Amino acid sequence: MSYKLRCIHCGKVYDPADVKYTCPVCGNRLGTLEVIYDEFPEVEKFDLEHKGIWAFSDFLPVEPNHFEVPLLVGNTPIYEKKELAHELGLSDLYVKDDGRNPTASYKDRASAMAIAKAKELGISTIYCASTGNAASSLSGLAAASQMKSVIFVPSSAPEAKITQLLVYGATVIAVDGSYDEAFDLSMEVGEEFGWYCRNSAVNPYLLEGKKTGAIEAAYQLNWKIPDVAMVSVGDGTVVSSIYKGFSDLKKAKLIDKIPMIIGVQAEGANAVMRTFNSGKFDNPVDIKAHSIADSIAVGKPRDVLKACKYIKKSGGKFISVSDDEIGNAIVELARKTGVFAEPAGATSYAGLKKIKNELKAKSVIIFVTGNGLKDINSVKSFVNKVHTVKPNREEAKEALKDAGAI
Ligand SMILES: Cc1ncc(COP(=O)(O)O)c(C=O)c1O
Ligand SMILES: [Zn+2]
Repeated sequence: MSYKLRCIHCGKVYDPADVKYTCPVCGNRLGTLEVIYDEFPEVEKFDLEHKGIWAFSDFLPVEPNHFEVPLLVGNTPIYEKKELAHELGLSDLYVKDDGRNPTASYKDRASAMAIAKAKELGISTIYCASTGNAASSLSGLAAASQMKSVIFVPSSAPEAKITQLLVYGATVIAVDGSYDEAFDLSMEVGEEFGWYCRNSAVNPYLLEGKKTGAIEAAYQLNWKIPDVAMVSVGDGTVVSSIYKGFSDLKKAKLIDKIPMIIGVQAEGANAVMRTFNSGKFDNPVDIKAHSIADSIAVGKPRDVLKACKYIKKSGGKFISVSDDEIGNAIVELARKTGVFAEPAGATSYAGLKKIKNELKAKSVIIFVTGNGLKDINSVKSFVNKVHTVKPNREEAKEALKDAGAI
């Protein structure tokens, strides 16, 4: 597809060959770029089942002969939950389970795109800073594509995520500091060695990969778009990508409305919400972040301007939920739908629980962005204890009674 890059801050339009990642005038923080297309071809049939995200290549900034990671990225299930919808006072509820991607998070959609672009440029090493998922995703997809990955993570990232990186053979630098510090360090080092950058917001193509989540959901719903989309928010790229996906589909006349998008943050990491509520989008509020939802524990969100502008255009807003609400949401979502989400993955559901009364009778889609097995420690205190017994029938029955199972 032929495309241009437009600065979200000053609006200047660039030819892709003339800029590297961000607007040279506005810089890395405010000058993130949007990929804009002249027009979309008229297509209605997509081979989602076999091609995953590449079924939507006509909506992506890639050449017809682009590289495709030899793993099925996307084509994740969407579940209609009628009973739960009624329980919550909604007309319909859809759960899009992106924990079912190859490395178990939404981030695979972006990594697949980063790898396609790196191959286009003939670069064989890709780097990123990540709270965990972008990293495990990049390392897994790089391994599948015979590329090298260098990852900067905060040393506090959950063990499962760090182990995942090592298993895939990534070079891992654990930074004794926050995600925000790991991010800045990665940019300095990556730039020095000329590696390809897979950092949220800075690389405009990542959002294009991520927008396939919205396109895919719309396609799976036969272009019948829900009224509201609930999305968890850290840096703000995923939530922006959901808007962009629906917005591109509307431009292509495949759908006629964009849902109201509600971004959900953790209370201890609600910098995007604060900026949105301040009304001064190009003067971002940065904070010191903390939350059990490690994936969205971001204090200096990199896509804050885009996220605020897009969510405003959708008629939506940002809300925040406590760590307790997130923990309880993981458990409730798992018990009511069978979808086990990591804390950031269940944050969208926690947000829905919080504002369900405002959304009465509406149809809602929640995006579950990461699998629960990524971080079991955070949820342990929200579930019952195991009943340990000797191999003895009477003891087993006692324990079952205690548990209320008989
Ligand atoms: C599971 C999960 N959900 C949501 C997000 C939020 O995405 P963003 O940082 O683009 O707002 C992330 C980002 O790491 C994530 O890993
Ligand atoms: Zn600019």
